Amino acid sequence: MCGIFGIVTKNEQPLGNILAEAAQRLTYRGYDSVGAATISGAKVDLRKDVGRVKDVAVKYNFAEMSGQRGITQLRWATFGEPSQINSQPHLDSDGDLVGAHNGNVVNNVELRQQFIAEGMTVRSMNDGESCVHAVERYINRGEGFIDAIRHAYDDLQGDYSFVIGSITDDKLYAFKKGSGLVVGLGEDFSCVSSDLPSILPLTRKIMRLNDGEIITLWHDRVELHSVKDGSLIAREPELVTETMEAVQKGGFSHFMLKEVHEQSQVAREVLHMLDGSPDVASVVEKMKNARNLYFIGCGTSYHACLTGAVYFAQLAGRPVIPVLAPQFMPQYAPTVNAQDVGLFVSQSGETKDVLNALEVAEARGMTCFGLANVIGSTLTKATVCSLPLCCGYEISVPATKTFTNQVVSFLYLAYRLAGRDTKELETIPALMDKTLEMVSEQVETIAAEINSWNDLYCLGYGATYPIALEGALKLKEITYAHCEGMLSTEFKHGPLSAVTKGFPILFAAGPNDLPLLVSGLNEVTCRGARAIAIGQDDPRLHANASDVIVIPDSTPEIAALLAVLPLQLLSYHMSVLRGYDPDFPRNLSKTLTVD
Ligand code: M6R
Repeated sequence: MCGIFGIVTKNEQPLGNILAEAAQRLTYRGYDSVGAATISGAKVDLRKDVGRVKDVAVKYNFAEMSGQRGITQLRWATFGEPSQINSQPHLDSDGDLVGAHNGNVVNNVELRQQFIAEGMTVRSMNDGESCVHAVERYINRGEGFIDAIRHAYDDLQGDYSFVIGSITDDKLYAFKKGSGLVVGLGEDFSCVSSDLPSILPLTRKIMRLNDGEIITLWHDRVELHSVKDGSLIAREPELVTETMEAVQKGGFSHFMLKEVHEQSQVAREVLHMLDGSPDVASVVEKMKNARNLYFIGCGTSYHACLTGAVYFAQLAGRPVIPVLAPQFMPQYAPTVNAQDVGLFVSQSGETKDVLNALEVAEARGMTCFGLANVIGSTLTKATVCSLPLCCGYEISVPATKTFTNQVVSFLYLAYRLAGRDTKELETIPALMDKTLEMVSEQVETIAAEINSWNDLYCLGYGATYPIALEGALKLKEITYAHCEGMLSTEFKHGPLSAVTKGFPILFAAGPNDLPLLVSGLNEVTCRGARAIAIGQDDPRLHANASDVIVIPDSTPEIAALLAVLPLQLLSYHMSVLRGYDPDFPRNLSKTLTVD
């Protein structure tokens, strides 16, 4: 979701290709537009448009751009449609300042009105432009850059980082709040970027920024100030010695574990995006008035569809038909028409089974929306409108953060449909972090204890039923054990006969379903099973389960979402204990483009 890069060199030099290459390294984050600006003397050269980096860079001849400072930005549209004018970087009113941001300024609409009322020239709808005007406002009052950024920070609400430069100054300035920002120090240059991997091909001498810090970049040094009081912050640069792969893993032993721990951050980002998205209202309206509403996906994405269907029914009273994409064709396609709406859900946006169903649905006139992570994928282009999952690159084959953001998106849409205040969902990221903190050690111990079993069950009910299916899929996918996900009430209708002493059965427990669950727990424990419950702290769970993995208190809907985290961790640890690589399980591919 958007990316920025800025560079300061000693002398004026060709910068266009450096900027295009830096932009290319940020493309994994997802984007629809790209731009570059160079500052040379009193002149800003700004070139930008909608499109792929390589196409825009060729069309606008980035190669000929030169300067002593340069900024590039990849934009994924939230405020303002994808268009040349909304692309970044942006100029201030008289073209002296140029800047770009990454993230979301949530009070962008109000700020634009203020800037216009104050006589500034506002050219776009984009919140990146608001960052530039917010600094311009205080520069016009005679403040220096550091103070202007400090005061702009008071005005700009949300999570973002930005980089800005002026024709009257040979430095660049960047600020971080909520979005990533790393500084690189090289031979006769310094640079700043949204992430570390995009800097490493240029230099391994880096400085990490914290929220609330302003960095000033010269070609041969940097200076750090606190946004709070403008005071200087002392920090030595560090040398990155790890391989690029280790850096990309961010200190975790596998991408999967890193991505599990990224879930709170990406949940925050998707909630911000949904709040600012101009598309949500029309998607919700269409869903509300649809004759039939279908949620369509495969694998993990299908489990998110099932969870979404429970949320829509329970919170908004809206019935939904969740369906595995290939089954949509024989079972529903013959009956759908233009009054129906389908939401096609896919991490990759390239799953052939999903695209096949989409093609048939569109041919029948159904309104087709998308929910996908890879922006620019076939699904996002083929649907009327596609909401992004805002997860960045998910490298590990087992889907984790994309699943939770699919579920968060469904929950958000259900709230909107029900007319409920989506602010209530802002607790989710902190609850996710708390869950990981509470369960990590215990889950690792349990993983070692049950690892010798090659047959397991994972049960749930209501909103936790699809979570149980997802937990079982994760276990199968990366431990190669057989784990069956099932509605907890179905267990007594057959599988109960499999129970022997110590047989591990996982229960994802919804806080409202405990009476039902207690029967299920006793049916298996009295036959010797090890019933491992995942749920909120409740004496009924402790009294009836063999083990209780306690997750934080929340609403029943959020509790279902949180319950998947220990299941992800359990499968991860069992996979590692078995000597497998959870990131790349045998026989599987991240993107299934075949029938
Ligand atoms: O890219 P998609 O979400 O369309 O992929 C669908 C499934 O192949 C995918 O969710 C798969 O089940 C995951 N690797 C499971 O972790």
